Amino acid sequence: MVALSGPDAMRICVTGHRGYVGAILLPLLQRRGHWVLGIDTGLFAECAVPGPSPSPQPDRSLCRDIRDVGAADLEDIDAVVHLAGLSNDPLGDLDPALTAGINGDAAAALAAAARRAGVGRFVFASTCSVYGAAGDDVVNEATPPRPVTPYAAAKLAAETAILQLAADAFTPILLRFATAYGYSPMLRFDLVANNMTAHAIASGRVLLKSTGTQWRPLIHVADMADALVAALDAPRQAVHAQTVNVGSDDDNVRIADLAELVAAAIPGAGVERMTGAEPDRRSYRVSFARVAQILPDFRPCWTIAKGVADLHGRIVGLGLPTCDFEGARFNRLPHLLRQRAAGRVTGDLRPASTARPT
Ligand SMILES: NC(=O)c1ccc[n+]([C@@H]2O[C@H](COP(=O)([O-])OP(=O)(O)OC[C@H]3O[C@@H](n4cnc5c(N)ncnc54)[C@H](O)[C@@H]3O)[C@@H](O)[C@H]2O)c1
Repeated sequence: MVALSGPDAMRICVTGHRGYVGAILLPLLQRRGHWVLGIDTGLFAECAVPGPSPSPQPDRSLCRDIRDVGAADLEDIDAVVHLAGLSNDPLGDLDPALTAGINGDAAAALAAAARRAGVGRFVFASTCSVYGAAGDDVVNEATPPRPVTPYAAAKLAAETAILQLAADAFTPILLRFATAYGYSPMLRFDLVANNMTAHAIASGRVLLKSTGTQWRPLIHVADMADALVAALDAPRQAVHAQTVNVGSDDDNVRIADLAELVAAAIPGAGVERMTGAEPDRRSYRVSFARVAQILPDFRPCWTIAKGVADLHGRIVGLGLPTCDFEGARFNRLPHLLRQRAAGRVTGDLRPASTARPT
């Protein structure tokens, strides 16, 4: 048994620790004295930004598909943070049955395995996109979710199954996150604010790819990691079997307004509307009143203006070639399609090197 570094230190399993959010969360947990088991198949292992320092490593790393994780893998673990999965709508649309299997069934099976293993807390990274096509009305946790994409439907299915596992010794917490933005060493440009920022750097213009009338809440990736920590730290009775929207009321924006905000944060940038842009039916304007009650220690620190300016400075500082902005390196779906075409990833999205024999 590894010695823990303080009375509040835990043994935490983070799935998806090699992704955009995990790369921020992992060092944060370790700095707080926690021991971390990371489980991830490394689908985006080549997608890190170039840098002099090696990426942070968990105390123990398991290259295992979440569809294959069992209770034995989670022995002696106090809490699980479940991030692994297909992380946006374009990935989810690739094969809806696969999406339901990974983001829905496997998440539920992982939670069941955690409960069997005696894990006390299970923090699930869900999404505000479960609200679907909610129009202009403000939705909250009491609003019936109406997902309109396979990604969101699978997340909702997982939520329902995971909540049913709540027990005296097993506390699930469902965090419905706003759309993330901001810098992570596992950078993604397929997130709307990051994409707008990258496009503005490449062309001097923020490209509005839809009509922009849809509502979307945003959260900085560092605030997302802070919320996950707060969910781990909160007293059991405060978070037991709770579903909470995580974001900030101030960062609920229409996408056209986001484009203006991003342009204002980048010197000399303007907004360009893509010709023939269509409306996006995914629209949700979300209340974040509840998170302040359930996780009082969580306070979003970032604003869109500050986060975009920071991201802009870092991208320019890294000197990333503009071909990377829309290419496979920092965009999840094109990267996986390329990996699959090259035979490095199987049809069911397992790295070929770890695929089970048929
Ligand atoms: N980024 C956002 O805007 C956002 C918003 C709301 C919710 N979320 C959720 O947060 C989580 C993390 O998002 P992210 O942006 O870091 O995603 P990401 O795509 O950057 O990282 C996902 C990680 O999971 C791993 N993974 C994928 N499928 C796996 C499998 N079957 N077995 C083992 N590992 C697997 C990948 O290798 C990758 O390292 C996701 O569940 C996502 O749905 C993200």
